[in-house]
Amino acid sequence: MADRLGVGIAGSGFMAGFHVRSFVGVRDADVVAIAGRTRKSVDELGDTCRELRIGDPTSYGDVRELVRDPKVDAVWVTTPNHVRLETIRAIAEEVTSGRGSLRGIAIEKPLGRTVAEAKEIVALVEEAGLAGGYLENQVFAPGLTRAHELAWGRGAAVAGSPYLARCAEEHSGPHRAWFWQGEKQGGGVLNDMMCHSVEAGRFLLTPPGAVKSAWLTPVTVNAQISCLKWARPAYADQLVRRYGPEVDYRRAPAEDYAHATIGYVNGDGEEAMVEATTSWSYVGAGLRLSFELLGPEYAMAANTLDTEAKVFLSREISGPSGEDLVEKQNAEGGLMPLLADEAASYGHTDENRHMVRSFLDGTKPTESLHDGLFVTRLLMAAYLSAQEERSIRWDSADLDDFVPDVAKGTWRAR
Ligand SMILES: NC(=O)c1ccc[n+]([C@@H]2O[C@H](COP(=O)([O-])OP(=O)(O)OC[C@H]3O[C@@H](n4cnc5c(N)ncnc54)[C@H](O)[C@@H]3O)[C@@H](O)[C@H]2O)c1
Repeated sequence: MADRLGVGIAGSGFMAGFHVRSFVGVRDADVVAIAGRTRKSVDELGDTCRELRIGDPTSYGDVRELVRDPKVDAVWVTTPNHVRLETIRAIAEEVTSGRGSLRGIAIEKPLGRTVAEAKEIVALVEEAGLAGGYLENQVFAPGLTRAHELAWGRGAAVAGSPYLARCAEEHSGPHRAWFWQGEKQGGGVLNDMMCHSVEAGRFLLTPPGAVKSAWLTPVTVNAQISCLKWARPAYADQLVRRYGPEVDYRRAPAEDYAHATIGYVNGDGEEAMVEATTSWSYVGAGLRLSFELLGPEYAMAANTLDTEAKVFLSREISGPSGEDLVEKQNAEGGLMPLLADEAASYGHTDENRHMVRSFLDGTKPTESLHDGLFVTRLLMAAYLSAQEERSIRWDSADLDDFVPDVAKGTWRAR
């Protein structure tokens, strides 16, 4: 058994930066290679790795070269959603042809933009004989995992299983043009962020150590989507000014608000419900992740903006805007929350520690590619429900060829 994992990162953007910072808390891996489209961002991320002493990565312009590097044992895929399938195809081809040799591949959310894409990704990874991990960080967030353990260990053990999980992720809008474009991203905020909330809900409702898909069986999915803020003419124009004519919410909006309820039957035969809410129309201090779990005699709650540290800056102080206090920060004055280690608080550090250990030990990650595929099915059922304004019954939903109107660019905000 190897005792260290050489990690190659495909992509050198926002998420690759989060992973790099998280590896400070992962003791049995080194970042040995980074591949991206722009040499400058790849080199800069490599410099960050050297400063943080988490590796001395080689820069590559092509993911195929990265896979051929014998130092790379596993690849973390952080390329954008519309490039995801071609990235996985390239990695799988290098491995099946024998030009590269890997133990595993860890893939960012969402696994695919449709069920068909997610299924192809799972098949490519399995046919190449690779272990696969689905990078859903929120179910590794320490606030969530510890509260989950206590709610089940002290509450559910005495009073019975929980029945309601509420999960929300909200911020004021994504950081790159492609996220806003339904045809590239695969949808709007439902695809981008509800993937987190539905999986966090499944995690909370499942006993610690149990397999989520064995404990929870979906029954119905109901959802609603809207474009509450960014389809307003003044805000649609703001997007055009920021990103150019390809992000035109007067012509081709994507939803900036989504709400879904997913009804399950749990392993005790009891009814359980996930309520998921996501938005790109929340202007608060910054990114807010909130979670609740309710059971017969107990409840837990977590909110990432209820930070242990805050700073206050008076009206006499003005300075440049930044994201130095919290992700998707919206202000630099007044009483502001700050997260000292966002990679840890959002779960990326524990997620990567778990993935590295699973790949080294040859065990199946608790978030597998099949979980990613399951999440994609839930999201597609939610889009179908929203666009047809009806409740979707899980056992009769045919989602394999479904492409949401938002992803086709044909959805209209109202
Ligand atoms: N888990 C989370 O909380 C979280 C947060 C943000 C993003 N993500 C996911 O991570 C992925 C990347 O998002 P991001 O915010 O880093 O995006 P980004 O646009 O900031 O970075 C994407 C990177 O991929 C590279 N890239 C673009 N096109 C490419 C191509 N054709 N071939 C190779 N590389 C290419 C870019 O150069 C860039 O380095 C997305 O799937 C997104 O959904 C996850």
